[in-house]
Amino acid sequence: MGAHTESAELVVSPGDFFQVGETKRIRSSIGLRLSDHSYLPKADEPRADWVASVAVPAFKTLARMGVLAPAFCTIGTGAGLDALAAVEILHARTVGFTDLHEDVLAHARENIRSNLLDDDVQLVGGAGDILAPMAGRLSQVDVVYENLPNIPMADSGDLAAGQTSSTFITERSEEIPGFAEKNLVTLHYLALQQAHPFLRVGGHVLSSIGARVPLSEILALSGAAGYNGSILTYTWKVQSEPRDVVGGYAQWEREGLGPFHFYPVNILRDAFEGLSVAAAGAQALRLEKRLSPFEISAADALALVERGERVGHTVAVLDSVKIPDSGAPRWNS
Ligand SMILES: C[S@@+](CC[C@H](N)C(=O)[O-])C[C@H]1O[C@@H](n2cnc3c(N)ncnc32)[C@H](O)[C@@H]1O
Repeated sequence: MGAHTESAELVVSPGDFFQVGETKRIRSSIGLRLSDHSYLPKADEPRADWVASVAVPAFKTLARMGVLAPAFCTIGTGAGLDALAAVEILHARTVGFTDLHEDVLAHARENIRSNLLDDDVQLVGGAGDILAPMAGRLSQVDVVYENLPNIPMADSGDLAAGQTSSTFITERSEEIPGFAEKNLVTLHYLALQQAHPFLRVGGHVLSSIGARVPLSEILALSGAAGYNGSILTYTWKVQSEPRDVVGGYAQWEREGLGPFHFYPVNILRDAFEGLSVAAAGAQALRLEKRLSPFEISAADALALVERGERVGHTVAVLDSVKIPDSGAPRWNS
């Protein structure tokens, strides 16, 4: 997609990004090349980066529970850092990875390959929609990870422009449960649905979701797609690309979707102070309740952003486990 494929280079330290002392499976300094479509890792601010602040803590939480992922797949890998994190933390030996654009995929493949210490990791990459490129190429997967975008694009938008596909989605033709559409979590639902046949029984899908809707609605995604769901980790982020993202949510809120919520950054910092992401995950519903008096609608958050103020949102990693004989999704109509 798109002909303009300039490269940028970036160096990321696993010490800062993955909070590991000495890496065993990947290089101690990670060099990345990116096309202008590649989602840009926030190399100077790991707290604002999805891989560093969400994927890595979730993978470590799984590993501490005794779950490793010899067979791993990431949907929408961007630069490929999430795959490298899975090799280091979840001991992935077969690594599936997809992304929409050919040039993002080509760079991701090279970024993963060139930063591995061991040649013995099998890379299965494909450019295309969600898991379509993996059809017939992966099976019995232990863990699927995704951090897909949420916001439907306005008619004038172009998914092939720059990093648009990291934030926006196009209209889908599949049947989507009404609650998932209203909460703007359509791609997370579709990823769960598509991952099901690739997973072994007991395998996990980790959905990394900016929780701008109630956690109960996020948990409902697992059941609707035929899994057992729980919140694995819970944390918060300063809203990145705030004008586009908060503006997008405010627009859809005006159209009757949502409502969506954000919080003042200091409230989030205080609420999560001293809690590990796993401990916060275990008490996520209680934390959400405690935060609820401080919720700000997307419209009000946009007004703050336009005045130059920062807003934040919570982030949940939904852990959906494939249950035996869970054939058809339990969602009706
Ligand atoms: C927010 S970025 C996350 C990148 C990376 N996984 C991370 O956590 O840093 C979302 C990624 O999903 C990709 N993407 C968006 N829609 C997709 C789709 N339908 N199928 C596959 N990948 C998609 C984007 O191109 C982008 O690289």
